[in-house]
Amino acid sequence: MLSREDNELITQTDAGTPMGNLMRRYWLPALLSEEISAPDCAPVRVKLLGEDLVAFRDTQGRIGLVGEHCAHRGTSLFYGRNEECGLRCVYHGWKYDVEGNVVDTPAEPGASDYKKKLRHTAYPTHETGGVIYTYLGAKEKQPLFPNYEWTQVPLEFTYVTKGLLECNYLQGLEGECDSSHLSFLHRAFNRDGNQPLYQADSSPVYETEDTDFGVRLIATRQAPDQQQYVRVSSFVMPVYGCVPAGRAAGELDGYEIHTYVPADDTHCWRYDMGFRRGRAVRDDEVHRRKQINPDYTRIRNARNHYLQDRQIQKTQTFTGIQDFLNHDACATESMGAIFDRSKEHLGVSDKAVIAVRKYLLTTVKELQHGKEPPHIVYQAKKNWFPHIDCFADLLPEKMTWQQHFDYLTEAAQKENPASFAAQRKAAS
Ligand code: FES
Ligand SMILES: [Fe+2]
Repeated sequence: MLSREDNELITQTDAGTPMGNLMRRYWLPALLSEEISAPDCAPVRVKLLGEDLVAFRDTQGRIGLVGEHCAHRGTSLFYGRNEECGLRCVYHGWKYDVEGNVVDTPAEPGASDYKKKLRHTAYPTHETGGVIYTYLGAKEKQPLFPNYEWTQVPLEFTYVTKGLLECNYLQGLEGECDSSHLSFLHRAFNRDGNQPLYQADSSPVYETEDTDFGVRLIATRQAPDQQQYVRVSSFVMPVYGCVPAGRAAGELDGYEIHTYVPADDTHCWRYDMGFRRGRAVRDDEVHRRKQINPDYTRIRNARNHYLQDRQIQKTQTFTGIQDFLNHDACATESMGAIFDRSKEHLGVSDKAVIAVRKYLLTTVKELQHGKEPPHIVYQAKKNWFPHIDCFADLLPEKMTWQQHFDYLTEAAQKENPASFAAQRKAAS
């Protein structure tokens, strides 16, 4: 349970709010590469942390992410002409480059140098793995773009989907820190794979560990034959949930990064990014795309009750709703746009949710008192994170996960032997 004050503190991310200030210290996904796929293509609207922005790819392929409303008299640049290395407003032709410089004010007298005095809102971008990231904070605090493993593998080894979640970002994020819902919300009555393990033990024992990047979450279930089923996930500051999902059976594989970026306080963008370590991803593996409309809303949503089928709910699946994505959306959107956490009743199974909230609240309060937040990288030699990894494995009953995965501490400074980088090194 959170007090009303803490609930507001942790859920509000507009400019000037404490959590908004914290989020603005990190690189965040802003849109997919496919949304502005070619030079001079149509610009798109981007809503991020309550800010109205427009993204465009200029004639030279450079990406601009600028304030939506023209600096002149506010017309939306979404309708603008993307031409000759800039975005031109349709009202009086003012033109902006990717850095927010006003490069033309054709309605002003020829000799006017008015435009030189103007600077439009423009944010830096970084494109990798089919995602365009941005940094919305102060220029002098801009960190390096973090070299996560999923941003280092070849593009064809990755996949990504984006969808609108119609609730506050924290509700989505908390779902990634909650292994016990796998035994219920996502249950299929006749499914193979790990489902029997989730069902055999529906109350996992949780361990949590605060780290330099966020919180490591370990859920252990009892398994047959004196084994234990251990799932290790990572909450990575400020909105990433790394989970051992999306793996192909029998392969040494990457994992999925489920990201909940606030659009505003009552909507967020869920990005599901995944990667393979040893091969290209096949199109048919990215089944979630089928759940999403061209405008990135979900086909199954609250207005059509997620197309829940009560007969299937009786006979085949716990929810009667198709696909994990929609299960999660139903569970988190139906709490209301911003859930009032002073009304909840947490149990032992919520240990990881509590740990992640605490980490975020501590960090945001410390920043209010001038302490620098964690996991912001300024030095190239520190831009390496083998200890952000996650997996689901059957281990002998007596073995600890630390014995099995010895690279998983910051102090280890050791490459994960299964990582893309380690495999590339071994092959060379
Ligand atoms: S409002 Fe954009 S040029 Fe006038
Ligand atoms: Fe889920």
